[in-house]
Amino acid sequence: MSRMVMAANDLNPRPPLNGTANGGGMAVSCRGVTKTYGTGGAAVRALRGVDLDVRQGELMMLVGPSGCGKTSLISVIAGVLDRDGGDCTVFGEDFARMSSRERTSFRGRNIGFVFQAFNLIPTLNIAENVAVPLLINGWSMVKAVGESRRVLEQVGLGDRWKDVPSRLSGGQQQRVAIARALVHHPRLIVCDEPTSALDHATGEKVMELLKETAVGRGKSLVVVTHDARIFQFADRIARMDDGHIIAVEQAEAVIRQAASSGAGS
Ligand SMILES: Nc1ncnc2c1ncn2[C@@H]1O[C@H](COP(=O)(O)OP(=O)(O)OP(=O)(O)O)[C@@H](O)[C@H]1O
Ligand SMILES: [Mg+2]
Repeated sequence: MSRMVMAANDLNPRPPLNGTANGGGMAVSCRGVTKTYGTGGAAVRALRGVDLDVRQGELMMLVGPSGCGKTSLISVIAGVLDRDGGDCTVFGEDFARMSSRERTSFRGRNIGFVFQAFNLIPTLNIAENVAVPLLINGWSMVKAVGESRRVLEQVGLGDRWKDVPSRLSGGQQQRVAIARALVHHPRLIVCDEPTSALDHATGEKVMELLKETAVGRGKSLVVVTHDARIFQFADRIARMDDGHIIAVEQAEAVIRQAASSGAGS
């Protein structure tokens, strides 16, 4: 498969990267993934051999202390950061074996990313920001903005579509970032702290929307969070520490443990 894709590089603008190869039915499969930033004395070993599987149709949360490598890991998974070593496939496909054009195309069709810092484009209004994945997929601006407005309605920002990001609060910008991740119906969405700027009620609404629209029937969601109040939306919870996944547990078990330790304290 990989050779076929390499050979097709740049000759075929829509290579057959439809995710049917290998992968064992997994949305994400990581084995021994490593990533080091910098070199020599300044080197930071952010990922030290990560093993993680995310099933198709599942909502996996990723928790762990600040600096343990969560953002680095989901960036590798989403193909926006190159790993140094190990294996990582998304729907059986490996970003490391794709040309940059293939990556853009695969991401555009299959992946939504909610960045920790939102990464909205300041000069575009929010409907245009949300439209970006559709434009990458070849939609006309008029159609794409129409669809963006529909998704902005779903996150409670339908009447703000003409505003540029700087006119919105942090929580509103976060909801724009979520709308942008949803708009093209990707098969995998990765969200970095998607409720960090939201009050509890809005955070719950956003998680309900994500769960309803982005999980199930082969669609998977990976959510990095520090917010135990949203654990109830997860199927499984992966714990990360110091560049490793140290445990993957059913969400009910984690919630039960938290409740019993809370009751005992
Ligand atoms: N671009 C970078 N250059 C150098 N070091 C980096 C870079 N990005 C992350 N790091 C380092 O890699 C380690 C893992 O960072 P990462 O952002 O993945 O952690 P995190 O678990 O997402 O943390 P947080 O919960 O604070 O967002 C940290 O020690 C961080 O300082
Ligand atoms: Mg982070």
